[in-house]
Amino acid sequence: MRLSKKVVAMAMASMMVFSMTACGNSADSAPATSEPEAEAPATEETNDAAAETETTDAATEDAATDAAEEAADAATATAGEGGNIGVCIYKFDDAFMTTYRNALQEILEGKGYTVTFMDGKNDQAEQNNQINNFIAQGVDALIINPVMTSAADQIIATVKDAGVPTVLINREPTAEQMAAYDKLVYVGCDARQSGTMQGELILDTPNKGDINGDGKVSYIMIQGDPENIDAQYRTEFSVKALTDAGMEVEELDLQRGDWDRNKGQEIAQNDLAKFGEDIEVIFCNNDDMAIGALQAIQAAGRTVNEDIYLVGVDALDAALNEVASGNMTGTVLNDAQGQAEGAVAAMEELLGGKTYAEGEQSIYVDYVKVTPDNVADFQ
Ligand code: GAL
Repeated sequence: MRLSKKVVAMAMASMMVFSMTACGNSADSAPATSEPEAEAPATEETNDAAAETETTDAATEDAATDAAEEAADAATATAGEGGNIGVCIYKFDDAFMTTYRNALQEILEGKGYTVTFMDGKNDQAEQNNQINNFIAQGVDALIINPVMTSAADQIIATVKDAGVPTVLINREPTAEQMAAYDKLVYVGCDARQSGTMQGELILDTPNKGDINGDGKVSYIMIQGDPENIDAQYRTEFSVKALTDAGMEVEELDLQRGDWDRNKGQEIAQNDLAKFGEDIEVIFCNNDDMAIGALQAIQAAGRTVNEDIYLVGVDALDAALNEVASGNMTGTVLNDAQGQAEGAVAAMEELLGGKTYAEGEQSIYVDYVKVTPDNVADFQ
């Protein structure tokens, strides 16, 4: 996703809230000599990038295997000299996390760090091994997107034992869990905000979502992975925004789509066949599922913003295009660039020796509502 100047300015503004300063790393720091030849990061987050991702996966996995032998070298790198950073992503095959990963890669490599990305393949046991391998290799810092929020205690205990400064991203543990380790911080968004904004997008329509005028908003909810706090909060707060505004609601169906486009399409297709015109709103916890739902809506001969409303979250390029052409009611920017900048800034604070007190270990980047009126600012 290419960000407009305005959006970059907004991201920079939210960065200032962090009051973080870079610690001894400048763009002209010499990269560590062991830096593997990295491909230029892709700037598009489409699933079409899969082939390229595969190549990068293979390269990073090879690098990880070899890295045990290079452990001594890696361990001697320090932040000021570039440093060795291990990044664990819950699953490479996730549209939003691909955008996020590309942003992290560009920022970290631009600052002269040597960075290795590992694909957790949606398997916590696999990710635990990857974390242990990074620790054995002597990385200077870790950035971890946990596979399961429920694994937070174990991950935090592991990085604490090893004394590795760690930034958790995308899946937020509780404040109590993070308090166990003062060289740990979470950078992400408050998912309640995105849910509320989805509800507001529906409230902003001419009939506040009640297309058939029967006094209630009848919706289906296509949820992400229900273990994920983003899925839980978006599900809850999107509907709460409607009820808080005095709207009556009727949930026709709620199903997990695991953030996945194909599952979004299947769920919407089945529900459109089952509930037909009764469905007034399709809430999707993310854009990839919304794009799938849109395919089902169009196949069923329905028209978004006329006889049905559709909202997502993330502001993927594909969703921005659909918002611009009126095929999605709206989406919510999940600011991958802002979060990646925040994660790297927090990591550099940790490398500079900063510790975090309980209650101060979550750093949030704001979500932004995207409608046909402002979509051009994000394209
Ligand atoms: C959410 C995002 C989803 C998915 C998920 C993975 O914040 O909206 O699209 O990437 O994170 O945990």
